Amino acid sequence: MTTTERPALGTMLREFDVLNPEHSDRKHEILAYARQHCPVSRTEANYGGFWILTRYDDIRRVLEDWETFSSTEASPAPSNLKMCPIHTDPPVQTHARDMLNPLLSRKALARFEPRMRAIAADLADAFADRGEVELLTEFAGPFSSQALVEIVLNDITPEQLAQAREISLRASEQPTPEVIGQLIAMSERFLDHARAHLDELPDGILRTIVTGPFGGQVPTPDEQLRILAILILGGLDTTRAAIGAIGYYLATNPGLELRLRDPRWIRRDLDEFLRLASPVGYMARVATRDTEVGGVAIAKGQRVMVRFDSANRDEAKFPNPDQLTFGATRPGHAAFGLGVHRCIGSNLARMQIEIALDELLRRVENLRPVPGARYEWTAGVGNSLRSVPLHFDRRA
Ligand code: HEM
Repeated sequence: MTTTERPALGTMLREFDVLNPEHSDRKHEILAYARQHCPVSRTEANYGGFWILTRYDDIRRVLEDWETFSSTEASPAPSNLKMCPIHTDPPVQTHARDMLNPLLSRKALARFEPRMRAIAADLADAFADRGEVELLTEFAGPFSSQALVEIVLNDITPEQLAQAREISLRASEQPTPEVIGQLIAMSERFLDHARAHLDELPDGILRTIVTGPFGGQVPTPDEQLRILAILILGGLDTTRAAIGAIGYYLATNPGLELRLRDPRWIRRDLDEFLRLASPVGYMARVATRDTEVGGVAIAKGQRVMVRFDSANRDEAKFPNPDQLTFGATRPGHAAFGLGVHRCIGSNLARMQIEIALDELLRRVENLRPVPGARYEWTAGVGNSLRSVPLHFDRRA
């Protein structure tokens, strides 16, 4: 970084606007500048202003102290729907986790593996002979939304499933308020139906949501909606973005493809991809009392933006943070969050990514960027590429 660039980055940091594409394009530079010069920085640009937290240790401390930093305003943008557990604190958050955690363990999810493989295989077969694909819309998006909908809403007719897939896919590609409204309406219909046909409802996530126990009680219809909505929304963009980013890294780093043909890559390397990509860039917390972070006073009621993507590139924690570094021990990344709200879907996400990449690489090889294509990252909460057009050869 040269001295002449510093003032520009400093100005951008003071005015940091998560919806401004110019700021988004340079977000990693701005956040690196912040970590070095002003790790707790104030911006008034979005939704009433935030303290932006950029250093790993500060972010960890805040995420582990839910009593001082509440999740009741975890959505950076104002949201009509307070979802559970993501917008709650213990003990309500703990009730939701106790209810859902067993359903999202690796063991519980194993029974869905054959079906997930079939979905990924069908999608990959559709483009494997063509030599080119837009990985997000033709593969990662439909795969993650279909698999998620089937796992969460297991007991539905083929027509309902098709409708749910379509709405979920739209929500993962363009989560406008209108599409989110449709997703909520759809969730309400599934819950109504589940409650009315409890006797025939098989064991699984939907049944558990309508029966509990949720802190020893049956969740109210409103609680059921708030739980179902975050399970669908939380798992859409995120896994799609992760698969898209890994496809892009594969195509732009010669030699990586060979590494991913070794099944051990899931245990050895997946976390390093997630660290660098950080599909969820940030969330928010609100201070429940006057406090401080990194020596900066934070008043009760003020909001902090916890930047998972900046924690994941903190050079004090991850040397050479802007590069993929395999083989080194890089424990403790924040891509799934830290503290009590750490992602409940991480096992499912890992399984989905593993299956998607496995089915893809069975069919194609020599993945490479399309000449002249622009690979741009979106602005906003998610760190996702806008599109991932790739060329490849059909695997014999
Ligand atoms: C690569 C994929 C994924 C990434 C990077 C990711 C990331 C995250 C992060 C950073 C948080 C913490 C939010 C906070 O602290 O405020 C979180 C929470 C959550 N995620 Fe994920 N997620 C992924 C996949 C999924 C999937 C597949 C599901 C669906 C089952 C899911 C459901 C949730 C839920 C319900 C929460 C809230 C947990 C709580 O508040 O206790 N996520 N996720």
